[in-house]
Amino acid sequence: MSQMNVSIIGAGLSGLVLGRCLLQRGIPCVIFERDTARSGSTRHNYGVTLYPWAFQPLLKYLDLNEATFRRVLAVDGVVGGTGRLGSNALLGLDDADAFRANRRKLEKMLSKGLDVRWEHHLASIQTEGGSNSMVFRKGQRVNSSIVVGADGPHSRVRTFTAPTSSFNILPFAVYNGRRRVDLKTFEDRYAPSMDGANVVEIWQGQSLLQITINDRTSKTVGISYTYSRRARSPVDPIFTPERSTSGASQIPDELFDEIRSLGSLDGAFEEVFDAEKMRKDRILNWLMRSVSVDVSERNAAAGQGIVLVGDAAHATPILGGYGANAAIQDGVDLAEYIVQNGTSNLAKFYKDVAWRSYVRDGEAQLAKMHGHTKASL
Ligand SMILES: Cc1cc2nc3c(=O)[nH]c(=O)nc-3n(C[C@H](O)[C@H](O)[C@H](O)COP(=O)(O)OP(=O)(O)OC[C@H]3O[C@@H](n4cnc5c(N)ncnc54)[C@H](O)[C@@H]3O)c2cc1C
Ligand SMILES: *[C@@H]1O[C@H](CO)[C@@H](O)[C@H](O)[C@H]1NC(C)=O
Ligand SMILES: *[C@@H]1O[C@H](CO)[C@@H](O)[C@H](O)[C@H]1NC(C)=O
Repeated sequence: MSQMNVSIIGAGLSGLVLGRCLLQRGIPCVIFERDTARSGSTRHNYGVTLYPWAFQPLLKYLDLNEATFRRVLAVDGVVGGTGRLGSNALLGLDDADAFRANRRKLEKMLSKGLDVRWEHHLASIQTEGGSNSMVFRKGQRVNSSIVVGADGPHSRVRTFTAPTSSFNILPFAVYNGRRRVDLKTFEDRYAPSMDGANVVEIWQGQSLLQITINDRTSKTVGISYTYSRRARSPVDPIFTPERSTSGASQIPDELFDEIRSLGSLDGAFEEVFDAEKMRKDRILNWLMRSVSVDVSERNAAAGQGIVLVGDAAHATPILGGYGANAAIQDGVDLAEYIVQNGTSNLAKFYKDVAWRSYVRDGEAQLAKMHGHTKASL
């Protein structure tokens, strides 16, 4: 085992979980991450809903009990909160034990002791004579017998190993904004209608309005909000599936017109969904995508020691999806697979049934949140 040479591309959730579990079992690995080390202290500072089925199997590798795990990660932990979802939060309805965790804190907890090489942006992989030779954008080269693509929905590893895989863009217009407010403003204008919950949502006509807490400090509260609805046909000025990646931050004026026409809102919703205040926030146009990977291409790559986990293998829509949970589960599962079965037959690791259901359940949940039962185009 100590001879094993495992490289993980991406220090996101699946990569860090895998690395941490392998390390705990005495198998060292190196994680290559495109971002800079400095960004590590601020990136991914938002809330994700975690389910016990995903995080409980991880606890023994972290040597933590569940109460401590929840307390340390809860988005409102600083004020003694437990990451409680709102009782009206559609996302939480299916599991009362889910909680809202701050993703940055989780990544910090996972990365303890791991060898993360920042500023390693994978550009290409070539397989020669049983070794995978990786080239990074700044010219670094590394050879490795095992390469794990844990590099998220736009996975570079996937484009080399399963080039015909494609995104399915679902017909929903979704905008996500962020705002940081000082404690007094929060207590006066947001808190009274949120009842201590970290996720609250309401319907307004055909649209879903959601407010979530990302993190709390002793002085400020980080808030995210989402405005979403089904796309309208034949033309919908706020649904732009063909936009470029950089187009995510270009927000059409029609969005603000639509917000103004919403009718009267109360409490935190009135404060958040105020077109003039929104214009000052950082807003992104989110595409709801799922990815399907060509199975034969993927399995052939596994035969060469290249394996995909997390969003790289089975991205689901951000809204309604279980992506963070699936990424954690994949990391634990792959580590256990390698410990038990080694790395000679990695294609057997793939759990097709479970993976198809992440994508299907995510799409179904997104549709349910918007009052329909089917999300296909
Ligand atoms: C705002 C937001 C809210 C979300 N809320 C939820 C939620 O409530 N519940 C839920 O289950 N999921 C949620 N998700 C989805 C969840 O975060 C993802 O599904 C999950 O992080 C996927 O994990 P991953 O390890 O596959 O990829 P990621 O966590 O995306 O990690 C990929 C890593 O690879 C790095 N990388 C990418 N390309 C390269 C390259 N070429 N070379 C080197 N490194 C590279 C990236 O910088 C990143 O660090 C949310 C996502 C967002 C953005
Ligand atoms: C990596 O492998 C390739 C092909 O086998 C070889 O030419 C190259 O010298 C190796 N590079 C390193 C850094 O070991
Ligand atoms: C190891 O391989 C066997 C046989 O394919 C399989 O049943 C088992 O689940 C694998 N172990 C893990 C931890 O996945």
